[in-house]
Amino acid sequence: MPNAQQDQAERRHLVAGNWKMNGTAALLRNMISNLLDESDLPANTDVLLLPPFPYLTLAESLIQDQPLLLGAQNLSAHEQGAHTGEVSAAMLAEVGCEYVLVGHSERRELHGEDDDLVAEKFVVAQRAGLRPILCMGESAKQRKNGLTEVIVKRQLQAVLDRAGVAALGNAVLAYEPLWAIGTGKTASPEQAQEVHAYIRQTIAAVDARIAGQVQILYGGSVKADNAADLFAQTDIDGGLIGGASLQVEQFLGICRAG
Ligand code: PGA
Repeated sequence: MPNAQQDQAERRHLVAGNWKMNGTAALLRNMISNLLDESDLPANTDVLLLPPFPYLTLAESLIQDQPLLLGAQNLSAHEQGAHTGEVSAAMLAEVGCEYVLVGHSERRELHGEDDDLVAEKFVVAQRAGLRPILCMGESAKQRKNGLTEVIVKRQLQAVLDRAGVAALGNAVLAYEPLWAIGTGKTASPEQAQEVHAYIRQTIAAVDARIAGQVQILYGGSVKADNAADLFAQTDIDGGLIGGASLQVEQFLGICRAG
């Protein structure tokens, strides 16, 4: 039987900065040089930057072989062809990405991505050797109506049905309640832990080993002063950071809390 506490101790933490459609090349240079100079990062924590597409090549050339991970915020569900304006998984891999977000709530809400498309992107990302970060989360109204678990389970199940539970062995999950994203209204550590534990239990019902291994990040108004309490929760393995990942001191503070 896998031992839950042992799994928790063995899971590395990941702090990921999702810049969304923000930032400049100058900020990227500044952020990367500060992160690479930082000597206080916990040994068990990896840091991942997710800048907009046009900055990926610059980021890759600044990082080179140093210990900072790179990923993208989105990818096409198509492998190649006549899809003007889209970016393929293979292209992302070629410019040095190791990770890619799928199912971010802004893609779901503002760009009409449904569970099927998100699951397809998850599969396409893995096929190109990328590690997808599957984002899930409920709206304020859904939480008020007691639907948090129903929504998160539906979003997770779509990927389990399409990719199979073993695929989570090469993926990351992120719980991001919509009401906490960009609002300054962070979920309390207890609220977040409750949903993270639910996600892990749901996976454990199918495969306990994978459930014990998969990293589950929390996202939604994480700041330097609330990160440590969130990341200390049993089933929270780091964070997906939006606004605060655009401020060097804030982001460094969050990484130190990793
Ligand atoms: P936020 O965004 O940290 O600005 O709330 C998180 C996210 O959308 O990934």
